[in-house]
Amino acid sequence: MRKPILAGNWKMFKTVSQALSYVEHLEGLLAEIQGVEAADVVICAPATSLYPLHNQLEGSRIKLGAQNVHQAEEGAYTGESSAIMLKDAGANYVIIGHSERRQYFGETDESVNAKTQQALKHGLLPIVCVGEDLDQRNQGVTNTLVESQVRAAFSAVSVEDVTRCVVAYEPIWAIGTGMTATAQDANAVCAHIRTVLSDLYGKAAADQIRIQYGGSVKPDNIAELMSQSDIDGALVGGASLDPGSFSKLVKEAL
Ligand code: G3P
Repeated sequence: MRKPILAGNWKMFKTVSQALSYVEHLEGLLAEIQGVEAADVVICAPATSLYPLHNQLEGSRIKLGAQNVHQAEEGAYTGESSAIMLKDAGANYVIIGHSERRQYFGETDESVNAKTQQALKHGLLPIVCVGEDLDQRNQGVTNTLVESQVRAAFSAVSVEDVTRCVVAYEPIWAIGTGMTATAQDANAVCAHIRTVLSDLYGKAAADQIRIQYGGSVKPDNIAELMSQSDIDGALVGGASLDPGSFSKLVKEAL
């Protein structure tokens, strides 16, 4: 009953011309996939490519996402983009609290919450990232940590708004390393996230919220991940950079 969502996170890759030729190619490849309309396919592009992509994707099945948003409405924040600007440039979704932003740009649970509220206020659909590092995994605190990240991210977010959000569970040790959590382990954490959401918002709302897994997702492991009860999609880094591999991944996911 939850529509699968397959999102490519390009991170800091691709110029405008590379982005435009990629989506033209991806569009053609997706058109050949039977039943592709059963899933949401999203490309989270660098801010510089959002508006040109938006123009090119008019009427397309591919949805656009940004990779970050500032929590303020507007102001003297050199180098930042507001939710209003991202929406205006054509973004439908925005990734919030990716572990790379938590690690390199000082994002905290509090800023993730403020950004989530700001995105929702302006009609952007947040993809809220949570996940543990290897030490935390080895210490056995994954569920506790992810639970506190989820509770903080959605603090003061209404039940109506939370059902518009996507949660991406990305264990940090699996990002870009080729190490994937087993589908069963990934599902166990995603199921725990759903239990936390159910505790916060009730079962009916929690059952509507889509939860993605991210971390070395590839065309050859997506089917097993998608067969799990609480995994509704994937947030894909490396394997989304080539339209051939991303379209294959979408096909395998269906
Ligand atoms: O946001 C997606 C990402 O962090 C996972 O990257 O390269 O392991 O698929 P990758």
